Amino acid sequence: AAKSESGQSVPISTAPMAVVAKTLTILYASQTGNAKGVAKQLEQSAKAAGITVNFKNVADYKVKSLKSETHLLIVSSTNGEGEPPDDALIFHEFLFSKKAPKLPELSYSVLALGDSSYEFFCQTGKDFDERLKALGAKQIAPRIDCDLDYDSETLSRTESMVKALKDELTQQDAGMATVIDLPVTSNGSEVSQYTKQNPLTAEFSVSQKITGRDSAKDVRHIEIDLGDSGLTYQAGDALGVWFENDVVLAEELLSTLNFTGDEDISLKVNGEQQTFNLKDALISQLEITQTAPTFIEFWANQSGNENLVKIASDKNASREFAANHQIIDIIKQAPAAVEAQPFVDALRKITPRLYSIASAQAEVEEEVHLTLGVVSYEVDGQQRFGGASSYLAHRLEEGQAVKVFIEHNDNFRLPVNNDTPVIMIGPGTGIAPFRAFMQQREADEATGDNWVFFGDQTFTQDFLYQVEWQAYLKSGLLTRLDLAFSRDQAEKIYVQDRLKENSAEVFSWLERGAHVYVCGDMSRMAKDVEATLIDIIATEGKLSAEQAQEYLKDLRNAKRYQKDVY
Ligand code: 2AM
Repeated sequence: AAKSESGQSVPISTAPMAVVAKTLTILYASQTGNAKGVAKQLEQSAKAAGITVNFKNVADYKVKSLKSETHLLIVSSTNGEGEPPDDALIFHEFLFSKKAPKLPELSYSVLALGDSSYEFFCQTGKDFDERLKALGAKQIAPRIDCDLDYDSETLSRTESMVKALKDELTQQDAGMATVIDLPVTSNGSEVSQYTKQNPLTAEFSVSQKITGRDSAKDVRHIEIDLGDSGLTYQAGDALGVWFENDVVLAEELLSTLNFTGDEDISLKVNGEQQTFNLKDALISQLEITQTAPTFIEFWANQSGNENLVKIASDKNASREFAANHQIIDIIKQAPAAVEAQPFVDALRKITPRLYSIASAQAEVEEEVHLTLGVVSYEVDGQQRFGGASSYLAHRLEEGQAVKVFIEHNDNFRLPVNNDTPVIMIGPGTGIAPFRAFMQQREADEATGDNWVFFGDQTFTQDFLYQVEWQAYLKSGLLTRLDLAFSRDQAEKIYVQDRLKENSAEVFSWLERGAHVYVCGDMSRMAKDVEATLIDIIATEGKLSAEQAQEYLKDLRNAKRYQKDVY
């Protein structure tokens, strides 16, 4: 058995065995790389079962080929509000268009990834499933919906998916007497030893506050030492970080609920039931800072609290409330008694947090740098902190161990050609991957122009990595730096205002082949930036709004418009 990208054991056979002649096409649509990891696991299982696999990012798939497919497996994530990830936009649109062919010859199955705290959980996977069925294709294994904290148990269900495919493929091929014997070899080179489930124990080596004393924000520059692990990453990748909750917070929960902390509770870890002491579980196994809307429903029932019952009855209200109340806040607002086991069952398992990497290995070798914004907010007069960000910023000390893994992100990559110009838009901690990009461009001696748009609240307190940007400007590596400090004057100025002011120049960069990258806040900033880009393209290119949208869509398809937003 070898370790796959997602840390599960997958059987890899090197012995000669029956190989079926028909091909299974596996298409994945990944926003952060999760779906790709799972798809890779399926690919390996399928190959190990003797199935020939055509493995593809759906963005690189020619929709015309669909007619001639016989066996298809789709692995797709879903964006926040239920839309397909960028990779799948074209395929999704095609399937739902009049051009979509009838597919009576096709056997398929879908694995969907999502976040059950969103209303449109696994929506893109569901769309594909329903649409393929409607086009006459045959579902050979039930769709698998994976929540954020999917574990090896969920993934073991993929084995039955592969088995169903294998059975069907073998049957069909046996009928045609085309079963052939071929040696199956696995390509182990892409499989990293360290994964989400099997992280590297690295060393937390530097933590430095990089916002000023008077800033409204606490942003840290973090350095983690990968030592001689051999772990590698590329500019654009993210670092997954496992964390532990604050002991003080766990104790506050215990005393509020009248627990001692010594209660035995049972949890399923990687598909196996294990016994924990309640306090340990609250510190290292369960989410207590991020509230799942399902917990609100549970606690509304438990407490009968009128206000909470009302919130729980409305999905949106529930999600909003969950976003700014931790478990402790909810049980304090709506006191109720509960047994340890049902309480634990209502909590989510801890999942690692992903941070865009702020360094390039060509520059920092065995280190990995992060730009960490400490999540904090006040609830009922109490300061509450994000679980992972407070772990990194407040609880971990330099020299201590931290469990990490690399989350590859092929959807956020520098251009292949070093002479291609690059526009980087990254306000706030969204600047992180662009620090990595600049380090990489420098190491590559890239000749392409580089233009950075950075924004934050104030020049004196929040200009992240100011000295480095100025040095890059001076050396000429950075062609232009445009800054938007929103609170240094009466009216707000944002990065998109700077883009707009430079419309002609931005458009001319696009026309000469520039790649555009956006990193940071998804719900407001990235949306506004996108609208501004469309506006610039329409005005400068003398195009209609639809044509401008097409232009941007073409950029996206050519991987010239990439987003890393959260
Ligand atoms: P504000 O908080 O002063 O409104 C990084 O967080 C920067 O992004 C801050 O300067 C913040 O401004 C700004 N910001 C807030 N909303 C934004 C939006 N919709 N588009 C772009 N930047 C935004």
